[in-house]
Amino acid sequence: MPSINPLLQKRWSPISFTDRMLTDEEIETLFEAARWAPSSFNEQPWRYVYARKNDGEKREKLESLLSEGNAWSKKAPLLVMSVAKLTFTKNGKPNRHAQHDNGSAMENMFLQAASMGLFGHGMAGWDTAKAMEIFQIGDGYEPLTMMAFGEHNPTPTDPAAKEREAKPRTRKEQSEFVFHGEWKEMN
Ligand SMILES: Cc1cc2nc3c(=O)[nH]c(=O)nc-3n(C[C@H](O)[C@H](O)[C@H](O)COP(=O)(O)O)c2cc1C
Repeated sequence: MPSINPLLQKRWSPISFTDRMLTDEEIETLFEAARWAPSSFNEQPWRYVYARKNDGEKREKLESLLSEGNAWSKKAPLLVMSVAKLTFTKNGKPNRHAQHDNGSAMENMFLQAASMGLFGHGMAGWDTAKAMEIFQIGDGYEPLTMMAFGEHNPTPTDPAAKEREAKPRTRKEQSEFVFHGEWKEMN
């Protein structure tokens, strides 16, 4: 097996976080990493709404969107909602890579977090329709992913969290998704 960059190895998606709040500088650094992601026509179609654990009403609004299965993330020091701008600013045409480029920016944030001893965990399980409503997000924008950031707590009190985090991480073989000059249908 070829070995990959240690930063890529370090990144993973924990569900247990310590209580340590992220500093303003750390938060700004995570968004700075997003800022430098590549994007189609350099449109930079990512938008974020964030709230720290101690941000009161702002935080409650984000937490109210989370599914039950993602209740673990309510403990995270930082929650971030990503929203894609679906059209190009210069001509109003649909940007079919808006979601793709949001994903690039998310991974930039995750890798930046890992380099700072922090972790980010992406979530699809939340109410995007409610987000449109309570944040009054207009047409042309699509709420995409919620992200939880913080310092990992390696000794969670919840046994279920401990068990989940102890599960081995799995991946497909390269032969299942890399094809040399030909297309193959693979699940
Ligand atoms: C767009 C996206 C949505 C995800 N949604 C959820 C989610 O709703 N709940 C959850 O616990 N994990 C979620 N995950 C985390 C994945 O399950 C995780 O990345 C995957 O199992 C690989 O594990 P790793 O990140 O530790 O390598 C999501 C990840 C991404 C990128």
